[in-house]
Amino acid sequence: MRAVDIIEKKRDGHKLNEAEINFIFQGYLDGEIPEYQISSFLMAVYFRGLDERELNAFTKTMMNSGDLVEFDGIHKFLVDKHSTGGVGDKTTIALAPLLAAFDIGTAKLSGKGLGHTGGTIDKLESIPGFIFPVSRDELIAQVNETGIGIMGYSENIVPLDKKLYSLRDVTATVSSIPLIASSIMSKKLAVYADAIILDVKVGAGAFMKTKKEAKELAHTMINIGKSFDRKIIVHLSDMSEPLGMAIGNSLEVIEAIETLKGNGPVKFSNLIKEICGTALYLRGDVKSIQEGAEKTSSMMKSGAPLTKLKAFIKACGGNENVVDDYSLLPKADYSFKVKSSEKGYVKSIDAEMVGKSAMILGAGRATKEDSIDYSVGVVLAKKVGDIVETGETIATFYYNDSAKLDDAVKMLKSSFEFDDEKIETKEIILETI
Ligand code: URA
Repeated sequence: MRAVDIIEKKRDGHKLNEAEINFIFQGYLDGEIPEYQISSFLMAVYFRGLDERELNAFTKTMMNSGDLVEFDGIHKFLVDKHSTGGVGDKTTIALAPLLAAFDIGTAKLSGKGLGHTGGTIDKLESIPGFIFPVSRDELIAQVNETGIGIMGYSENIVPLDKKLYSLRDVTATVSSIPLIASSIMSKKLAVYADAIILDVKVGAGAFMKTKKEAKELAHTMINIGKSFDRKIIVHLSDMSEPLGMAIGNSLEVIEAIETLKGNGPVKFSNLIKEICGTALYLRGDVKSIQEGAEKTSSMMKSGAPLTKLKAFIKACGGNENVVDDYSLLPKADYSFKVKSSEKGYVKSIDAEMVGKSAMILGAGRATKEDSIDYSVGVVLAKKVGDIVETGETIATFYYNDSAKLDDAVKMLKSSFEFDDEKIETKEIILETI
């Protein structure tokens, strides 16, 4: 077999068999096929796509390129909720304790944040003393004890994805639905879960800019999941603005806790309830996601999820008293209220720009080597649909380095788009597939 023949076949729109797909990608992973040939192959895939059989073969090669993580020692129904990257996404911090209260386990590998989206790992590390488990055994023990175990991604999980993603990034082949679907699904399949819930974000700050594209991605991922015998449901959720009000590590931890106390932003709370309801539905506890969401509302009121969150923080060496006393979390020295120079109804808030405004102040990393200031970030005062008068506060920055504030303010102001007409607001979940 020769790589050039496989490239030619794909270029001309012919179907590849499993052996050919395995040959080209495994060859790349092993360093036998050079980057220039894979770049060309990826571009052929970008234009010609992959059919179901090709995609399943590709996902299998990806999944098997590194370690497969099983959780034999965990005796709980395991749910893996994954979102395709959102600004202000603190879902796992609020969701995992809720699931734990229903005796549903979270055993998750999570990434550090890079660029305008923050990572769950960074957010939780803002809790004083908090350290993630470093071994699979430790993670399993934590899930059995508290229902929740989260640790950083290992280099050995789907190493082919890492290598391919860096290449896609510089060859203009990221935005290909089959490549995105297999990249996400191979990582979900490599780490065991009884059910997978995917939250595909739709909007300006997201990978999927339109609902049509997001639906296509959702169906592609569902087909992959089903062919690997996994239970899977995909929600398409609105990213025409950041999720919730807070963006920045300790600020997001506070918002997640407030949500469990019943005081969270409405759309974020609804998202959590729907996802937890979906988990109950997938376990077979309820007949519909709606019924599951109602059960979740009652569970939230019981206070049990907060107890689970404290147990999880304590098991990770963190100070669980942060749940009752936010002054124990890192706090920025200064705050600044951003006033609107325009008036009207908020039409959209570009999530990517808001994320970048917080990143400028140190809430996120521009490069992998950057360190994070856990205390800084921004809390929005207005969301899509709200009316704003000139001079009214639209957000508050929390910061330590005054030299960076001006740039952050400019960025935030330009993220708001206004309209004279009243705006119809959307539900957070646009569709469930
Ligand atoms: N997220 C991933 O994990 N992979 C992609 O290709 C795009 C988004």
